Amino acid sequence: MTAGRAPSIPDSKRLPLLMRRLQKRVSRCTGCDLSETRQRTVFARGSQLASVCFVGEAPGAQEDAQGKPFVGRAGALLDEMIQQAGVPSGEAYFCNIVKCRPPGNRRPRTQEVAACSDHLHEQLAIWARSHASASSKRVIVALGKTAIEALLERRVDVGALRGQWKLYRGRVLLMPTYHPSFLLRPFKSQQRSRQQVADDLRQVAAEIGFQGEAQRARRPRLYAIPGGRT
Ligand code: URA
Repeated sequence: MTAGRAPSIPDSKRLPLLMRRLQKRVSRCTGCDLSETRQRTVFARGSQLASVCFVGEAPGAQEDAQGKPFVGRAGALLDEMIQQAGVPSGEAYFCNIVKCRPPGNRRPRTQEVAACSDHLHEQLAIWARSHASASSKRVIVALGKTAIEALLERRVDVGALRGQWKLYRGRVLLMPTYHPSFLLRPFKSQQRSRQQVADDLRQVAAEIGFQGEAQRARRPRLYAIPGGRT
């Protein structure tokens, strides 16, 4: 009798298993000082089968309390803009460059980003392979300077780069744009920056084969600031 090879596990079972294992490892991680002050690790929100992966900077207070990314004010604005752009909610997966909240919501330090980098790249590799069919499009949206620089592995000027397609590790399309927290700050050209993010997200929706509300209505429309969000 020949020694048979163990039957291989199909990707549809193996990849969710790999993601769960990674999440478990992240939940026990003590790779940097942020592990001492976090309430919870914040791994992901949404389906790993989603076509678009939104990568932010780091969890804030709400995310730290709930263990999910983008569940505070910035997340509410982001969800609204994603919907306006025409990306179905089931096609959005959310994560962050670092998985633990930096105290006081400061920017994560270089060594904290480095300590989390293996987790991040493994998460993105599993997500990129998890999509239903190999021919389906996958797009990463890098939100703000920390995410863009960590994913492109170089220093960038966000204002100059946003809106232009890049490649993550030579393989996955990446759209750099402003971070939703930035759009929540009052500043002179806030409306213009919101419009730019809306334009960038519409490019993303079109790339994966969806249209925004504005295009569906066949009329040009300025992005409206969602009212009353806290
Ligand atoms: N919430 C997140 O999960 N990430 C951010 O970058 C900001 C808010």
